Amino acid sequence: MANKVPRILVTGASGLLGRAVVKVLKAKEWDVVGVAFTRVGSGLIKCNLTDSEAVSALIEKVKPDIIIHAAAERFPDVVEKKYKETQLLNVKASAHIASVAQQHGSKLLHISTDYVFDGTSPPYKCNDKCNPLNKYGQTKLHAEQAVLRECPGACILRVPVLYGPVERLEESAVTCLFSALKSREPTTVSHHDKRCPAHVNDIAHIMYDLISLIMKGKTLDGIFQWSGKEKLTKYEMTLTMSRIFSLPHDHITPSYSAGSLRPYDPEMDVSRLTDLGISHHTNFEDGIKECLSPWL
Ligand SMILES: NC(=O)c1ccc[n+]([C@@H]2O[C@H](COP(=O)([O-])OP(=O)(O)OC[C@H]3O[C@@H](n4cnc5c(N)ncnc54)[C@H](OP(=O)(O)O)[C@@H]3O)[C@@H](O)[C@H]2O)c1
Repeated sequence: MANKVPRILVTGASGLLGRAVVKVLKAKEWDVVGVAFTRVGSGLIKCNLTDSEAVSALIEKVKPDIIIHAAAERFPDVVEKKYKETQLLNVKASAHIASVAQQHGSKLLHISTDYVFDGTSPPYKCNDKCNPLNKYGQTKLHAEQAVLRECPGACILRVPVLYGPVERLEESAVTCLFSALKSREPTTVSHHDKRCPAHVNDIAHIMYDLISLIMKGKTLDGIFQWSGKEKLTKYEMTLTMSRIFSLPHDHITPSYSAGSLRPYDPEMDVSRLTDLGISHHTNFEDGIKECLSPWL
């Protein structure tokens, strides 16, 4: 594959992460085919990933060198309410994509989460014991296991809470804090759980670097992890937004109690990536300023 322009199939291409991945890889002049479900526009292909036959036909038609599987239900509250439907997408569809990737010889890069950990003993190494606290984390862990069973050469990339350019502020667990800040309504925001937010562009560039190494013939498989380099509570993120945009924050009260079914500090060890020379981090203040400016 060394000198070939890779053909990349990206699922979840209409989502927060997938939009950035498509944009970054297209800018590198790679041959990118984006797949969406309800938000099909700007050249994306519609496919319901829970329809196994449709997925098989899509991969057969596109014949991708690489599949980036980013589609998932990732709102923990939705997963608690719609567990069975979520299992079909997060676990069963991931397993099927992995099995078709294996059959066609496509390299699979599957996206997972820090929520596979319980957050009690960070930083977590790639092979540390997983213990998801909520159903979302459970489905993502089961997906990882199914992917590696069906396609042992797959790469899994675990990422932390993400932010980036949003279609609505509620799209990201980070940008939604800006709604609370702007509203002036008295609100409580967690000053307990710790997060290492990452900009979606950084994750997209990490994928580009990983795939570039694979294209050059490097054998990479198994679990990789990325965490942003700044550890912040949601209250601290809100204060940063307040400072950047000179907005009052006296209506925001920090909460020191543990959130239910959320890991306290799921920071992940990133050395498997940095040992490969792969590291991308946008300073939180710069990244969030750029993402929120259109929402002032
Ligand atoms: N966002 C975070 O903070 C975060 C943190 C850690 C890990 N992750 C992981 O990162 C990945 C990307 O997350 P994200 O934040 O980009 O998610 P997102 O913004 O919620 O997007 C979800 C994507 O999945 C697609 N999708 C949903 N149901 C589908 C179906 N039945 N068939 C085909 N596509 C379907 C959606 O398509 P339509 O909208 O077109 O229907 C959308 O493109 C996920 O694996 C997630 O678990 C995210």
